[in-house]
Formats: sequence, C-alpha cells, structure tokens
Amino acid sequence: MDSQTIKSAIICTDSDVRNLVAKVIAEDDLGIEVGLEVVVPFHEINDSHLEQLRQLNPELIFLDVGDDPVMGLKFAQFLVEGAPNRRVIGMGETLSPELLMQAMQAGVTEYLPAPITVEKVQESIDRLARKIGGHRGGDDRREPGKLYAFFSPKGGAGSTSVATNTAVALHILTRRRVLLVDLDLELGETALLLGVEPRFSFVDLVRNFHRVDEGLLASYIERHESGVELLSAPFHPAKAETVTGDQIRQILQFLKQHYDYVIVDSSKSFTAPTLATFEQADAVFLVTNVNLPSLRNITRCLPLLERMGSVKDDDWLRILVNRYQPSDPITLKEIEKTLGISVFWTLSNDFEAVMGSINQGKPIVLHDHSSPYTKDLKGFVSALSGVSEPTKDSKGLLSNLGRPLKKIFNRSSA
Ligand SMILES: Nc1ncnc2c1ncn2[C@@H]1O[C@H](COP(=O)(O)OP(=O)(O)OP(=O)(O)O)[C@@H](O)[C@H]1O
Ligand SMILES: [Mg+2]
Repeated sequence: MDSQTIKSAIICTDSDVRNLVAKVIAEDDLGIEVGLEVVVPFHEINDSHLEQLRQLNPELIFLDVGDDPVMGLKFAQFLVEGAPNRRVIGMGETLSPELLMQAMQAGVTEYLPAPITVEKVQESIDRLARKIGGHRGGDDRREPGKLYAFFSPKGGAGSTSVATNTAVALHILTRRRVLLVDLDLELGETALLLGVEPRFSFVDLVRNFHRVDEGLLASYIERHESGVELLSAPFHPAKAETVTGDQIRQILQFLKQHYDYVIVDSSKSFTAPTLATFEQADAVFLVTNVNLPSLRNITRCLPLLERMGSVKDDDWLRILVNRYQPSDPITLKEIEKTLGISVFWTLSNDFEAVMGSINQGKPIVLHDHSSPYTKDLKGFVSALSGVSEPTKDSKGLLSNLGRPLKKIFNRSSA
C-alpha cells in the first residue's frame, strides 16, 4: 500500500456483498485498497477488531448494517467521531425514513439499500468524487447543468407526460445524469408515471436544505430503473403550502450543480415557486394542445412570460404542441401567427398508447417504440441535447475517478 493509496475497510457479514465491493474497488483502479475486512456481526466486534481499525485508520468504510441497523448506525457514529475525513458508506435493507435520517445524522455519507449491485457501489464512489468537485471547487468544479421547465396553463395538455418521458429519453440518449423534479407540489403525478413510490419529496428536501450535501441529497431521490432520478412532489397536497419561491430558487441552483439535466414539471398556477422555476430555467416549454381553450390560456400568460424572457436567450420560451394531428382544423402557421412565436416541436396524438403507459406506470418511450408519440419525443430530445445517437456506455465516466477520489482525502495524485 503506497502513500497515495486510499485505505478502506469493509465491515460486512455477507461474503457475496464483501466480494462485490472488493471487486468493484479492485477492477476500477480508483486508487483505493481494502486494508481490512471485518466479517463478524456487530455484537461480536471486539477489542482486537477495533485495534485493527485504529491501526489501519481507513478513510473510507463500507459498513453493512443489515443484521442490526440500530446498532450499525451507532457504530457508524463511533467510526466517524474524531475522524472528520472519514467517509462511511452504509449498506443494508431499505431503511424507514426515520432510520435513514438517523443514518445521515450519524455521519453516514451514503446509504445503499439492498440488493447491493456493482452499479450502486460504483455510483456511490462516483458521487463522493463529484461532491468534492461541487463543494471545494478547483479543477473539478463542473458547469451547472441545464434546467428545462415544462408548463401548461391549461390542465390536461400533457405537461407531465412530456416532462417525464423527456427525462427518461434524455438519460437513455446521453447517459448523463438526469433529475426529474416534480414542482406540481399539490397534485404532482410524475412518480405515478414512472411507477415508483417515493419515500421523500421536494418538501422534505426544503426542510433539511440547511444541511444538505450530495450524500443527503441522494437519500431524497428515487432512482427509476431507466437510470433517471426523481425528486417527487409530496403525497399530501397540504405539505406544498410551506414552500417559498426563495427556497425553490436555492434548491434548483443546488440541483443544477449536481446534475447534467434538471427537468421540471411545473404547477399550473403562477405562484412564487413557479416564477422562481422560470427564473432558473434555461428554457421554458409551453405545452399546448390545438384547441381554443388551450391556446387562449397560453395567450393570456404570454405577456408575463415574455417579460421574464426579456433578460434570457431569444429561444428561452418555446412552444410544444402536444396531441398534434396534421388534420387539426387550426394549423401550426395559425398558432404561430396568434402567439407570435414559432412552434419548436410537435408531439403526435396517440391517446391509447399514452394513456396505457400512464396506467401501467411505464414511460411510453421505454416500452412502445412504434408509437408516433415516442418517435416525436425522441426527435425532441435529440434537438434539445444536440445528441442524435444513444451514447453507448456510462461506465467511461468512471475512468477518470482516480484523481478526484484522492482529492476527497486530501491526497495529491502527482
Ligand atoms: N400526445 C398525446 N396523445 C394522446 N393523449 C395524450 C397525449 N399527451 C397526453 N395525453 C393524455 O392527456 C392526459 C393528461 O396528460 P398529462 O397528465 O401529461 O397532462 P398535464 O398537463 O400534466 O395534466 P394536469 O393538468 O393534470 O397536470 C392524460 O390522460 C394523457 O393520456
Ligand atoms: Mg400534470
């Protein structure tokens, strides 16, 4: 073990998990070495184990709390106390929100719920590396991600379907980190469309924002099987009342530092949170259908949006015509003339397929490749990202982790 090596320990009774973690560390050549494996349950950890830990003084500990979470979290606290540079990555069964909160308070940087996979372990290490980029600055400071807001002043125009499918398609196309944020705080439905049951919501993040870092952020976020991440709306609408525009502004700025794309499904009303979202957006997509009520509502909110857009890029405000059919009695030209803005994209009408995917909680872009809606949406996402062919592999992102990881532990990798 040379002086550049980051020393780590694995505390875990499950040999499969131990081997998996050790294998990820060994194969990725990240400058980490496993110096100690503690294989006994917590109640059997004795002075000899503690002495071995003291001697190794590991900077990174993978701690499986599986067989006794309460005891495990106490042990995590013991391991972190007096060792401020030490990072503990917790692992084990899915914790209740209360226990998860306790884990964060105990100093657990990340918590990986079972089943532990190669991808989860790699990503947690990846997050550790990026956290340093975001908070300490220096060479690894990244450009903020792009924030795209989807808004429809008329209910049912398709804002949530477009935002959700756009997030999924963007991640699949670009392999970048994409976060879908549901800011329809009263009646948000993105979780439903993704078929996930979130344990936390945007409002929980607001409440704990004063002490949030990337590890704590990760615990509020639900990961969809497609790889897209979700910050959900609260299940109970009453919780939405407490959120102010200022809080939304600060949190969106923070999220842009941690994601390549932040996709926001906005609420229908011009509340302070909605306006703060527009202010933070790189582009606002006004979702409309080709009918008079929908177009009339767009016309009514245009003056305000155009005022806000006057300090932004020319194409900040963009029109997305949803449920489009070439046979519609109102033509695209007429829409453009009425609104005074060109139509950025159209998404075909395909009620059966879109509704079917909503009911099943499976985003249409993932499972219905023949729907004209899917084809249009993929075209839209290509135009948005400037990427036309799916990026093959996200693993390449891990290849340059050695340097930032060493920075985590204040090591020079020269
Ligand atoms: N391109 C489309 N073709 C056919 N039906 C669509 C299309 N897009 C959306 N829909 C249907 O319109 C309905 C509303 O969609 P969605 O919930 O995405 O809209 P919304 O603007 O978010 O509505 P809300 O006002 O409830 O927030 C859904 O039942 C969906 O099936
Ligand atoms: Mg909606």
